[in-house]
Amino acid sequence: MRQQESGHKLWFVPEFFFTIMLIYSHLWHLLLCLLVALERSSYSLMGYANPNQVAGGLHMRLFSRAFIVSDGSKRVVFVSVDIGMVSQRLRLEVLNKLQMKYGHLYSQDNVVLSGTHTHSGPAGYFQYTLFMLTSKGYLKESITAIVNGIVESIDRAHDNMKEGRIFINKGREETSSLNRSPHAYLNNPAEERKRYTSNTDKDLIVLRFTDMDGDGIAALSWFAVHPVSMNNTNLMISSDNMGYASYLFEEEKNTGSLPGEGPFVAAFSSSNLGDASPNTKGPHCINTGESCDSLDSSCPVGGPNMCMAMGPGLDMFESTKIIGENIYKKAKEIYRTAKHEVSGPIHFAHQWVNMTDVTVQVNSTHTAKTCKPALGYSFAAGTIDGVGGLNFSQGSLEGDPFWDGIRDALLGVPSNETKDCHSPKPILLNTGEMNQPLPWHPAIVDVQIITIGSLAVVAVPGEFTTMSGRRLREAVKKELESNGNMEHMEVVLAGLCNIYTHYISTYEEYQVQRYEGASTIYGPHTLSAYIQLFRGLARAIATVINHLPKGPQPPFFSDKQLFTLMFSNQPDKKPTNTSFGDVLMQVRPSYRVGEVADVTFVSGNPRNSVTRMKTFLTIEKYDNATDKWEVVHNDASWETRFHWKKEKVGRSNATIEWHIPHSTLPGIYKIRHFGHYKELVALKPVVKPYEGSSDIFKVDK
Ligand SMILES: *[C@@H]1O[C@H](CO)[C@@H](O)[C@H](O)[C@H]1NC(C)=O
Ligand SMILES: *[C@@H]1O[C@H](CO)[C@@H](O)[C@H](O)[C@H]1NC(C)=O
Ligand SMILES: *[C@@H]1O[C@H](CO)[C@@H](O)[C@H](O)[C@H]1NC(C)=O
Ligand SMILES: *[C@@H]1O[C@H](CO)[C@@H](O)[C@H](O)[C@H]1NC(C)=O
Ligand SMILES: *[C@@H]1O[C@H](CO)[C@@H](O)[C@H](O)[C@H]1NC(C)=O
Ligand SMILES: *[C@@H]1O[C@H](CO)[C@@H](O)[C@H](O)[C@H]1NC(C)=O
Ligand SMILES: *[C@@H]1O[C@H](CO)[C@@H](O)[C@H](O)[C@H]1NC(C)=O
Ligand SMILES: *[C@@H]1O[C@H](CO)[C@@H](O)[C@H](O)[C@H]1NC(C)=O
Repeated sequence: MRQQESGHKLWFVPEFFFTIMLIYSHLWHLLLCLLVALERSSYSLMGYANPNQVAGGLHMRLFSRAFIVSDGSKRVVFVSVDIGMVSQRLRLEVLNKLQMKYGHLYSQDNVVLSGTHTHSGPAGYFQYTLFMLTSKGYLKESITAIVNGIVESIDRAHDNMKEGRIFINKGREETSSLNRSPHAYLNNPAEERKRYTSNTDKDLIVLRFTDMDGDGIAALSWFAVHPVSMNNTNLMISSDNMGYASYLFEEEKNTGSLPGEGPFVAAFSSSNLGDASPNTKGPHCINTGESCDSLDSSCPVGGPNMCMAMGPGLDMFESTKIIGENIYKKAKEIYRTAKHEVSGPIHFAHQWVNMTDVTVQVNSTHTAKTCKPALGYSFAAGTIDGVGGLNFSQGSLEGDPFWDGIRDALLGVPSNETKDCHSPKPILLNTGEMNQPLPWHPAIVDVQIITIGSLAVVAVPGEFTTMSGRRLREAVKKELESNGNMEHMEVVLAGLCNIYTHYISTYEEYQVQRYEGASTIYGPHTLSAYIQLFRGLARAIATVINHLPKGPQPPFFSDKQLFTLMFSNQPDKKPTNTSFGDVLMQVRPSYRVGEVADVTFVSGNPRNSVTRMKTFLTIEKYDNATDKWEVVHNDASWETRFHWKKEKVGRSNATIEWHIPHSTLPGIYKIRHFGHYKELVALKPVVKPYEGSSDIFKVDK
């Protein structure tokens, strides 16, 4: 079997850091701004684009990891990207670029794009109104960077293809997740729950890619947990726990290379993580410390805003580290012992479907229908991984006259049809009937399966809960195996693929209206509809039918129709008598391992550097033998943190921290910073590079 190889590419969009988290934790705040703005007859959200609210920094660089597998006649592409989710816009732009380069070789049929679901990535790459509002609009520089990163990773994989073999293995990672909506899970039938030992999926599935000599060249794995170890107070770009697992695996295999630079690629992809939290100390009231693991996740004093889950570490960095390490260690063990070879032909099936219009056969006598999209009240509550902030609680089966009034007055009254369709969900945001300036939510959704021999990858357009994922996998497996051509299929579910449609809970979980049920946007029969659709794809694959209808093409709104809520950044300023890159706060002359060395520079806005550079910083060690400086860390390193702070007058500081690991060799070091500043030359903005360096300092044991 001819096979993959894989490449990855740095990309990074500063100043949008903060925004992706808005989708989850501060969505409602933003909407309030909109409501207020509308009351003042202004659509402007400029009040929100307050410099104090635009924070920035970088902890771990984000990567796109691409795998191409070919059986000699057909090929499939699987890309795992360190972002919150893949959006329809992003996918369409990637597919357009691929078509220009490769013709029909890579298309919607055989390319799967999956987001890891980190909550500390950039935003701005969506074309539906709700997502644009929560992203500060459509941000060209953000989506361009992501598209280019993904396409470049595919280019590298394409150029590096060589013959090889794939082995599959799985094991259980028991300690890295808990169910954050156990009361919804418990509403699933008892006989069904009895079949499982846990209320989240603990299986970690790993593919080991080797060359013909048997040497490992890449790992691709799936595990179901939310990358929300970094909580909603974090302002630095980070790939979170799953990204840290990749980082550790690649660091171990690429000895001596800086992060992102060695040949070995290890991707940790998302799965049915809808209700799986990594905050394993569970929900507690932050004011009193008591448990708040209740149906409404509300605290006796202070209500729902006080109920949060944390752990297992003392702070979010330690929690990220522990969860990432757990997953990495287990994956490594499974990788090492993978003996079962994946062989056989490649197949794929893809369709676009109008998810607002699927008729589902409920039983032998009755059918039901999916709904136009809508979000319920409990959506605004957020979760124990990031509370909503407005005192809404989860498990709401009734609306509130006050908020209903605001909704009706400003956003329109939901039709009776939509209300009935979503019952028992009380509708907060009637997105399916809101089309100004563009539709608020998608109707046309991708469903897709690729198979590589006995492995089937089911690419789902959102966040399936644990039980939803189990039902879908089982249905696909059964369908694939029932036609005589395929047996012993291993079905994995790849999450956050191709387009974002929030959550998919089971019908029973939906009745409880926790956050996940309230965010199941096509109504109570959403899961049944997907099971029906994916069974159709599986049947097409198993029976080798070639004429599966393509379905209705999704819209591609023109750039003019999309709106942005963020202006391009102003020219940079600096304190009198300084230059960009000058040191404002110097390092100390010496440090011991375990301490933090930090230095502050006069900086330009990192937005100037989006496509222009590879790292904002280096940590360099002096080599006395050669009289040269050797780079030991860059900005993708776990040990380094880049903080960017803006002052009102357009001036900004870059502070670089080096958390000196215990493994550091004693010696002479320095910290360098690289950036770009914008200045006006004859009234036209010009971007220029700058760099700076700290004094040299000593590190001792
Ligand atoms: C939120 O609601 C709870 C009752 O559920 C109440 O005790 C608390 O004071 C409220 N908090 C705010 C900020 O309104
Ligand atoms: C986030 O984590 C930090 C520790 O790293 C903690 O101080 C803070 O309370 C946490 N915030 C939330 C909202 O969980
Ligand atoms: C989806 O189906 C609904 C109901 O039939 C229809 O009104 C709508 O126009 C369709 N949407 C698209 C984008 O085709
Ligand atoms: C089919 O489902 C409908 C609606 O849930 C229910 O009323 C009916 O009794 C069911 N029929 C059978 C045969 O299970
Ligand atoms: C919607 O339902 C309400 C209550 O059942 C009813 O009063 C109202 O007339 C209905 N509206 C329409 C447009 O049918
Ligand atoms: C800037 O440098 C000039 C020339 O060296 C000096 O006269 C002036 O006082 C300096 N200004 C400040 C604010 O340090
Ligand atoms: C470099 O090596 C020379 C000669 O071995 C020694 O004198 C000097 O102190 C060393 N410098 C540092 C910075 O270690
Ligand atoms: C930038 O650094 C200077 C010198 O350390 C400090 O006075 C100033 O407050 C810093 N500004 C910000 C926004 O951190």
